[in-house]
Amino acid sequence: MKLLVIGNGAREHALVWAASKGRHSVFCAPGNAGTAGLGRNLPIDPLNALAIVSACRELGIDLVVVGPEHALAAGLVDALEAAGIRAFGPNKKAAVLESSKAIARAFSERHGIPCAQTTLFSPGTGSADFFRWLDAQQGRRIVLKKSGLAAGKGVMESDDPAELRAFGEAVLAADGLLAEEFLIGQELSVFALCTEGGYRLLDPAADHKKALVGDQGANTGGMGAVSPLPFATKELMARIDREIVGPTFKGMAAESLAYRGILFFGVMATADGPRLLEYNVRMGDPETQSLLPRLENDLGELCFEVSAGRLPVPRFSSRVSCGVVIAAPGYPISYPRGLPVEIRDAGPELALGKPEAGFCTMPGDSAACALLFQAATGRDPDGGLRTGGGRCFTAVGLGQDWAAAQANAYGLASHVHFEGAWYRTDIGAKIYGK
Ligand code: AMP
Ligand code: GLY
Repeated sequence: MKLLVIGNGAREHALVWAASKGRHSVFCAPGNAGTAGLGRNLPIDPLNALAIVSACRELGIDLVVVGPEHALAAGLVDALEAAGIRAFGPNKKAAVLESSKAIARAFSERHGIPCAQTTLFSPGTGSADFFRWLDAQQGRRIVLKKSGLAAGKGVMESDDPAELRAFGEAVLAADGLLAEEFLIGQELSVFALCTEGGYRLLDPAADHKKALVGDQGANTGGMGAVSPLPFATKELMARIDREIVGPTFKGMAAESLAYRGILFFGVMATADGPRLLEYNVRMGDPETQSLLPRLENDLGELCFEVSAGRLPVPRFSSRVSCGVVIAAPGYPISYPRGLPVEIRDAGPELALGKPEAGFCTMPGDSAACALLFQAATGRDPDGGLRTGGGRCFTAVGLGQDWAAAQANAYGLASHVHFEGAWYRTDIGAKIYGK
């Protein structure tokens, strides 16, 4: 099968890696230096639907898997479907569940899905209503969210009225604003393969959204992810399914929003039960980098089946996975691009963009134990590797237990060098205890 992955992040490198294991011909648009080592990159902007459609025709692509939300929100799947090309992902109408948090919140309220208590403020009506509302909160901790797409960075939580005021006012100048009660609990990312006919849950993962150790600092797109999750018991998953996932798909069917792809539920498991934080209409980044090395199905086949309206059973190995994002200096605020990268002593595969590093802490563990996924990287004419974004790499460690996964992830991360590179040193600690 000829498969085209859209995007250039570490998530897409992981998708291309997993699909190329199935001996499919894999293309990536625009891809990065990592995907170039596994398949063929096409220098096409994900927002250029016309160029993507014509490349699909020219190359005889059988399936397009869309990674990033902005391409889905812009209607890439609509363009592909109109041209008779199979796609894995929602059309523009359904992508609104992610691209407008205001619409998504109204949808979940209509369908009785438990969320944080939320007050919506519309754009263009000034900030006076919001300021009045904020004054009545008497210093409570509040979460403010920009309604539109923001790469994980449009959310701020605080109990400082001045800080909340400034953030809310800035958002309201151009977008809708959601003000939510602050929920306490364990956060998890729940994924469902979906078609018009039903859905199947994948294993959940836990992202680490805050920039700094101990969940401090600003929200980011995600600084690391682990899977599986010992706290995600059968009972918890059944409750999430019953109270959040099931009612969502029922609501989507009723409102003609069903699609073939993946729906991702950001969930907070609180003492009062699970609460939906947000929907994403695609795989998560960095969750995908941790999940796919545990997937035992052929990824290309799995996505193809879903795009054809069928729902195969996803199977995951019992191996533990720990993904650590290596970020550029200054991320998530402002950061340089194009920093030269050196990968020292981690095996020859990495230099070619093949993610398997040549070491493993557990003797006798024959499957890949450490995988380096690249994000937006590029090559100099002489072959040197350069960073291209804020979250530059995801170093994923796998193992028969948590200690091995963690050691493999951090062992690999220590081989990646560029000026100002940094990462959280506590990925998974809140889940696995250290
Ligand atoms: P969202 O884009 O809505 O998923 O928000 C980004 C991150 O902010 C989430 O992954 C949570 O870590 C945090 N967050 C969002 N909403 C809440 C809430 N109501 N209470 C506590 N934390 C939240
Ligand atoms: N990791 C969260 C996201 O992909 O939005």
